[in-house]
Amino acid sequence: MNSTRFEARSVIVTGAASGIGRAAALLFAEEGAKVLVADLNQDGAEETVKTIKAAGGNAVSVAGDLSDPQVVNEVVTTALQSFGSLDVLVNNAGIMDSMAALADVDDAEWERVMRINLTAPFLLTRAALPHMLSAGHGTIVFTASEAGLRGSAAGAAYTASKHGVVGLVKSLAVMYRKQGIRATAIAPGGTQTNILAHSLGAEPDKMSALMNTLVQPQDDAEGAPLGPTVLRDILATNSGRQSTPEEQAAALVFLASDAAVQINGVVLPVDDGWSAV
Ligand SMILES: NC(=O)c1ccc[n+]([C@@H]2O[C@H](COP(=O)([O-])OP(=O)(O)OC[C@H]3O[C@@H](n4cnc5c(N)ncnc54)[C@H](O)[C@@H]3O)[C@@H](O)[C@H]2O)c1
Repeated sequence: MNSTRFEARSVIVTGAASGIGRAAALLFAEEGAKVLVADLNQDGAEETVKTIKAAGGNAVSVAGDLSDPQVVNEVVTTALQSFGSLDVLVNNAGIMDSMAALADVDDAEWERVMRINLTAPFLLTRAALPHMLSAGHGTIVFTASEAGLRGSAAGAAYTASKHGVVGLVKSLAVMYRKQGIRATAIAPGGTQTNILAHSLGAEPDKMSALMNTLVQPQDDAEGAPLGPTVLRDILATNSGRQSTPEEQAAALVFLASDAAVQINGVVLPVDDGWSAV
């Protein structure tokens, strides 16, 4: 492709060690952007930087948990010091929940999902905004989810966190549109990434229970809470073709580009028609 839509622009992409974030970081760089790769996974983040540099691009990484305000400050400061400006923020990093029925969601799972999926994007956006406002322009793109649009695409914590992301997008768009800031989101349907393996890594019992549920169909008792079997049913029925990370990245980078200059506060389903069912 090698377009120069992002020539001389500085872009932060969170969760860019893997999946959708990695594909977006590579595409931004291919289109001329200077890219800060932020992720918990240091090796993966460095690998993304290495790939960008090997193709002649400019990238740096910051490794750490983005729900930690100190890491958030380091990300924004490093982008400004390395690149001299901050034009685009992509709040993409996220985790799944265990798909447990609401009554079975413990405090730790609820808080972990909210912290990473909703609080971290809030913290980063708050840290980035002053720099964008003083420059008079800035674009913030979030990775929401089909679960930000409907009540049956994931468990309660994930669904609530992604509805929160949609609220952030709309609120930002209305609040800052007169100051040159745009906020948008993609809402991916099922996408071939490492999210299942990454999400419950700290909770191996829940992870293996979820994986078992996905591969071994269970009988849903009439009237029982849906719980994890929801995911299996969705994958089998309405969700459409699974996308690739590159297909999600193409939509995300479009939303960040000048071609989308009049698009603000919009959550774009990238889901092979799932949201139309
Ligand atoms: N894969 C799907 O089917 C799907 C569908 C809808 C939405 N999404 C959303 O897409 C986004 C990207 O996920 P993906 O599917 O590419 O998964 P992925 O697991 O391949 O990539 C997510 C990345 O985020 C990083 N990350 C997780 N927690 C972090 C933290 N606290 N601090 C810093 N980095 C952290 C991980 O290390 C990983 O590299 C997520 O927000 C997810 O909710 C994914």
